[in-house]
Amino acid sequence: MGPLRFMFLLCLSAAAMSMVRSEDPYLFFTWNVTYGTISPFGVPQQAIFINGEFPGPNINSTTNNNIVINVHNNLDEPFLVTWHGIQHRKNSWQDGVLGTMCPIPPGTNYTYHFQVKDQIGSYIYYPTTAMHRAAGGFGGLRVNSRLLIPVPYADPEDDYTVLIGDWYSKSHSTLKKFLDSGRSLGRPDGVLINGKSPKGDGKEEPLFTMKPGKTYKYRICNVGIKNSLNFRIQGHPMTLVEMEGSHTVQNTYESLDVHVGQCFGVLVTADKEPKDYYIVASTRFTKTVLTTKGIVRYTNGKGPASPEIPEAPVGWAWSLNQFRTFRWNLTASAARPNPQGSYHYGSINITRTIKLINSATKVDGKLRYAINGVSHVDPPTPLKLAEYYGVPDKVFKYDIISDDPPADAVDKVTLAPNVMNMTFRNFIEIIFENHEKSIQSWHVDGYSFFAVSVEPGRWTPDRRRNYNLLDAVSRHTIQVFPKSFAAILLTFDNAGMWNIRSELTERRYLGQELYSSVLSPARSLRDEYNMPDNSLLCGIVKGLPKPPPYEI
Ligand SMILES: *[C@@H]1O[C@H](CO)[C@@H](O)[C@H](O)[C@H]1NC(C)=O
Ligand SMILES: *[C@@H]1O[C@H](CO)[C@@H](O)[C@H](O)[C@H]1NC(C)=O
Ligand SMILES: *[C@@H]1O[C@H](CO)[C@@H](O)[C@H](O)[C@H]1NC(C)=O
Ligand SMILES: *[C@@H]1O[C@H](CO)[C@@H](O)[C@H](O)[C@H]1NC(C)=O
Ligand SMILES: *[C@@H]1O[C@H](CO)[C@@H](O)[C@H](O)[C@H]1NC(C)=O
Ligand SMILES: *[C@@H]1O[C@H](CO)[C@@H](O)[C@H](O)[C@H]1NC(C)=O
Repeated sequence: MGPLRFMFLLCLSAAAMSMVRSEDPYLFFTWNVTYGTISPFGVPQQAIFINGEFPGPNINSTTNNNIVINVHNNLDEPFLVTWHGIQHRKNSWQDGVLGTMCPIPPGTNYTYHFQVKDQIGSYIYYPTTAMHRAAGGFGGLRVNSRLLIPVPYADPEDDYTVLIGDWYSKSHSTLKKFLDSGRSLGRPDGVLINGKSPKGDGKEEPLFTMKPGKTYKYRICNVGIKNSLNFRIQGHPMTLVEMEGSHTVQNTYESLDVHVGQCFGVLVTADKEPKDYYIVASTRFTKTVLTTKGIVRYTNGKGPASPEIPEAPVGWAWSLNQFRTFRWNLTASAARPNPQGSYHYGSINITRTIKLINSATKVDGKLRYAINGVSHVDPPTPLKLAEYYGVPDKVFKYDIISDDPPADAVDKVTLAPNVMNMTFRNFIEIIFENHEKSIQSWHVDGYSFFAVSVEPGRWTPDRRRNYNLLDAVSRHTIQVFPKSFAAILLTFDNAGMWNIRSELTERRYLGQELYSSVLSPARSLRDEYNMPDNSLLCGIVKGLPKPPPYEI
């Protein structure tokens, strides 16, 4: 080997080592996942605890931290957790979905390693196996800004995580049986805030306290299964500062619609009469409105909250109008010192348009949900492992759905693994088109996208004229109103196998998800990490020789 070539390799390996998470600090966690008992509605029921907590512990991290979580599965079923909104650059191996990982068998443990690379903001984690999400196992995940990066608001007095979600009093196994037998889940029984409701455990205790005159950050995430929720704090307007990892223009809201899987960061100032106030979450777009409340207490408080609960908005037009007020703050820095708006997404040419149409149909008498006529099923071999071991054709077929299906074709449903082939680094437009009468919520793993349009009606190319090509918020989950569409733009520059799913757990469980396979032609460590040494193996790859590693 000549000296020049040797030097070149040396430089490359130094570069690769710094890429492979060397200098950044590590955070270590050990999780014990078990069943436990809660009584949110006054009646005991089974829930999933992490280290004895329901909801699970908050993960508090800072941009670029490496997170190592040793998860001990002490349930009686296989288990996985996904880090919702964490992009896992080059590392779909850790995404915690059945298309990229084998589930952790009961009574064993698996250690996740991932980096919260170039991200800030409010996120959640939750189980993706079976219907475990209906039993808990979820929690908050924060990524704080590094000290040297300016944050576009003053340091709050404290930082609170508010996990709101609809809740069923039936166990996750009963709910799973409903779905397996072909029927739907029906209505939830109520709404919980941080695992509690006034009908159950600890009803008199305040959920949060505030010192008079101080400003607090509340990170509000919808960890529920099905219902969009309206969130409000009696007498206290909220200043929106962050949404799913982006700093927003700081508008003030009386209430916010939080769709399933979405997160908002708001500032609230304790500048009212010192007493208790209710924080309220209620279901939206449902015939029967389910409402819950919790207490926020002033530390110098003298008296109970007024029984008058602030009213929720009605109808989805209100929600659509609220969506239109959300704007990216172009001059604020996010995870890096340069302004987040310096990425001019509006001037990049679109290379492919994919329309994804959701449907609900009966197949052999059983309810299934589909995308473009395909209802996804997870094969026993994770898609990513099949690809890595060079045996994808034994496990799934690429591109069985079309980019532009005729509207009437989507009701003929096939059950199969649903995998789309994406060209690495292409800039793609995805249209989520909802012909149904119910609201949808869509999430993309591995990326954040620009939510450039949410509009009523069907999409046509001339709808592009109304896209927000300047300051749409870069985020990971978007709602689609009844008989409406949402358009998102993103660059598929993160190699891996990435889940695109309905956040509505029943829909996802019954097939409304797909995977985008983003392969770098180079098979290089610059683009994607190797399968970790501790990866669990299952299905047909179990007996196969390990493929040669990716090269530098
Ligand atoms: C997990 O919790 C269960 C139930 O509390 C306990 O029996 C078990 O020893 C714990 N396991 C670990 C690894 O801490
Ligand atoms: C979370 O982390 C930040 C910065 O890393 C630190 O300032 C803060 O005190 C931590 N909060 C909690 C609740 O641990
Ligand atoms: C399981 O946990 C033990 C320690 O509790 C650890 O040494 C081991 O590496 C873990 N195994 C995996 C596969 O993560
Ligand atoms: C946007 O961020 C900038 C820079 O951090 C900040 O000064 C400004 O107040 C923010 N603008 C709005 C409208 O929130
Ligand atoms: C985008 O497409 C237009 C028209 O096809 C072309 O003129 C322009 O050079 C392209 N821009 C980029 C950045 O590729
Ligand atoms: C996926 O697309 C790329 C680029 O368009 C192509 O080279 C590759 O052969 C495709 N792979 C499969 C499995 O279809």
